[in-house]
Amino acid sequence: MSIIYDAGQRLITLKTANTVYQMGIDPLGALLHYYYGPRAEGNFGYLYLPRDCGFSPNPYEMREGRGWSPDTLPQEYSGSNSGDYRLSSLELIAAGGAYGALLRYKSHKISDGKYELEGLPAAFDGQGEAQTLAVTLEDRAAGVEAELLYGVYEARDVITRAVRIKNTGEKAVRIEKAASLCLDIPFGSWDHLHFHGRHAMEMQPERSPLLHGIHTISSGRGASGHQHNPFSILCGREADEDSGFCYGFMPVYSGNHRTDTELDQADSVRVVSGINHEGFSWLLEPGESFEAPEVLMAFSRDGLTALSHIFHFFIPRFLCRSKYALKERPVLLNSWEAAYFDWDEEKIVNIAKGAAALGADMFVLDDGWFGRRDDDKRSLGDWYPHKEKLPGGLAPLIRRVNDEDLRFGLWVEPEMVNEDSDLFREHPDWALRVPGRKPAISRDQLVLDLSRPEVCGWMYDTLSSLLREHKIEYVKWDMNRSLSDVFSNTLPEGRQGETAHRYVLGLYSVMGRLVKEFPDVLFEGCAGGGGRFDAGILAYFPQIWASDNTDPIARLSIQRGLSYGYPACTVSAHVSASPNHQTGRTTPLETRTAVAMAGVLGYELDPAALSKEEMEQIRADIARYRKLWPLIQKGHYFRLADNGLYSAWQFVSEERQQALVSVAARGTEGNPKPLHIRLKGLDPEGVYTIAEDSSGTKREYTGSALMYAGYTLPPFTGDYPCAVLYISRK
Ligand code: DGJ
Repeated sequence: MSIIYDAGQRLITLKTANTVYQMGIDPLGALLHYYYGPRAEGNFGYLYLPRDCGFSPNPYEMREGRGWSPDTLPQEYSGSNSGDYRLSSLELIAAGGAYGALLRYKSHKISDGKYELEGLPAAFDGQGEAQTLAVTLEDRAAGVEAELLYGVYEARDVITRAVRIKNTGEKAVRIEKAASLCLDIPFGSWDHLHFHGRHAMEMQPERSPLLHGIHTISSGRGASGHQHNPFSILCGREADEDSGFCYGFMPVYSGNHRTDTELDQADSVRVVSGINHEGFSWLLEPGESFEAPEVLMAFSRDGLTALSHIFHFFIPRFLCRSKYALKERPVLLNSWEAAYFDWDEEKIVNIAKGAAALGADMFVLDDGWFGRRDDDKRSLGDWYPHKEKLPGGLAPLIRRVNDEDLRFGLWVEPEMVNEDSDLFREHPDWALRVPGRKPAISRDQLVLDLSRPEVCGWMYDTLSSLLREHKIEYVKWDMNRSLSDVFSNTLPEGRQGETAHRYVLGLYSVMGRLVKEFPDVLFEGCAGGGGRFDAGILAYFPQIWASDNTDPIARLSIQRGLSYGYPACTVSAHVSASPNHQTGRTTPLETRTAVAMAGVLGYELDPAALSKEEMEQIRADIARYRKLWPLIQKGHYFRLADNGLYSAWQFVSEERQQALVSVAARGTEGNPKPLHIRLKGLDPEGVYTIAEDSSGTKREYTGSALMYAGYTLPPFTGDYPCAVLYISRK
C-alpha cells in the first residue's frame, strides 16, 4: 500500500520507494501539510510547535489558543481571504460577491489505479501500479468542494497532483484562481532552478538563492512559451548533481502556466503551481466541476541527476501514450533549412534523393506546400496543395519520395490563420481578436479560436482528411506566434476569462482524437522551436523540436537545460549546414552530429551541398546512431562538466554495459591544457574499454578509475571540435 490512512491520528501518508508525503487533519478539520522528503516513519505533526505570531490571525474557534494560525502552519491547499496571507491556491467569488475560500476536510477515498482528468492530459497507470488519493475539502459558505487528487507511483518516486473544484451550492460561483499544487516546505534554505529563454535560445538554466518574497515563472502567451519553461526545481543551497535535496515540479499543461515560490516571514517556502490566474476566471454553475491540470512532483535526496532520472524514466512510460514513446524513431531529413519557401517539386524530390543517399529513413516536407504559401505572409488555414509547386498534389510527391525508400512526413500549423487566406475570408470571426480593436499581428498571422468547438471540428476534419487520404507517416505540428487579443466571439460576457484555457482544452481534444485515430503516425510538437516544450504536449506527441536554433554550440545549453526534466528521446535535434543559418558560426560536422545525437537525430540541410566525404561521414553516423539508439533512449543521462571551454555529457545503459561520452568545445584559449572529465554511472568494479572516435585506439580502465580519477583528453584546438568516447564493459 502506498497510501495509508491512520484513522486514530487522522493522518494520511503517501509512500514511494524513497520518499514520504504526509498530511494531517487537525481538530478543526483543516488539512495541514506535514512532510515531503526522504522516506522516514512517524507522525510529522510534531515538527510544528504552537506559536503566537503577531498579525497572523487564528481561526475563530481557536481564539483562546493563539498558537494556531493558517498563516504559519503548513497548509495542504491554501484558501484566500481567510487568514493565510501567503500564496493562495483557491480564490473564489461566491454568490453574493464574497471573495476567498475557507476549506475544511470532508472526506477522502483511496483507490487502486490512477485518476483521469476530463479533457486534460494526465499520467496513466501503464503497469497497474498506481494508487489514487482523493481528499475532499469543502467551503460550506461558498457552496464549493475542492477534491485534491494524488496519483502515487510508489516504485517511480513520482506523485501527481490535480484538483477538481465542484459547485455544490445553488448559485453560480466564479473561480478566480485554482492551483493544481500547493506545497509548503517549512524548513531549510533553498535555491530556485528554472529555465528561461527566448525564441532560438530556450531553456537556459538559471539558479539563484530563493529570497524573501515571491519568485514567479509563468506564461501569459497562451502556450507554455520560449520565455519560461513550466518545469522548475527547488533544491537545497548545497545541492549539486550528485547530492542534496531537490524537488521537481512539472505541470502537464501547455497553456498559461504559473509556478510561484514564496519565502515567507518565517523562512518557510510555499510552492503553488498550475494555470496562470492572471486573465483567468471560470464561471461554475451549480452541479458543475472544473479540473485544474496535473502537475508531476518528484523528490530526490541525491541531487539533480537523480531527480532528472525520475522524470526521464517516467515521461515515456507513464505520460506519453504514443506507441513511439519507447520505440525507435526514424532519422529524418527536413526541408526547412534546405529550401525554406523556395522550391518546386523537382527541387524537393532532389533533396529527398539526397536524404536517401545519406541513409535517412524519412523525408519531411516543411512549410510552403499549401495554398499560395511562397513566404510567411499568407495561406495559413488553406491546407490544400500549392497548385504551382505541387501541380499533381501531394500524392505524386509522396509516391516519388516513397520510391526512394523513404517514408514521408509533413509540416502543418493548424492553429493559425493568415488574413490573406480563403479560410479567413470565409470565417473572419474564427480568429481571436477583441471587438473594436486591431489585433496584434505576429509573423503576419492570427490565432484561431480553439475555444470554439466548430473551429476544433474544422481543424480535426482538415487534418484527419489529409492523413486519411495520403500516406503521411509523420506530422510536425508547429505554432508560430503567441496568443494575444484573447476574446472569443461565442463565449458570453461573463465567460471571456475562460477563453485561453478553453483554447488549450480545444487543442488537446483535437490532438487526442488524431493520435487515437492515427496511432501509426509519428507526431512531433513544435512552436517556433521550443515554444511549447512541455509535459502536456508530451502526453500526446513523443518528441518536440527543441529549438529553431540548430547551431550545435548554442544547442549545448538548450539541450542541457531540457535534460533537467525531459528525457533525450523527447528532444528533436538536427544536423544543419555550416555556417549555421541562425548564428553564422562555422562548426565541424563531427560536433554538429555529436550534439544532435544527444536527442532524436535528424538532418536539416541540402545534401547536394555536401562533399563526398561529408556524405560518407553522415551515412556512417546514421548507421552508428541506429545502434546507439537504445542507449540514448533508455540509458541514464548524466550532465558532466560544463564550463567556458567545453560541455560534456554521458549516456550509460541500464545494465551499465555501455556508455557514450561526448565533449564539445565551447571556446578555446592559448597554451591549452588537456581536458579532464570524471565519468558517472559506471560499475566501479567493472572493467571498461574506451574507443575514441578520432583515433580508434582502445584501452582498459576500471569503472572506479573513470569515475573517481577521471579521464584526460588531449587539449582542444581550433574551432569547436568535439570528442566522443564509446565505452563498453568487458
Ligand atoms: C518554425 C519551426 O520551428 C521551423 O522548424 C520551421 O518549421 C518554420 N516554423 C516553418 O515556418
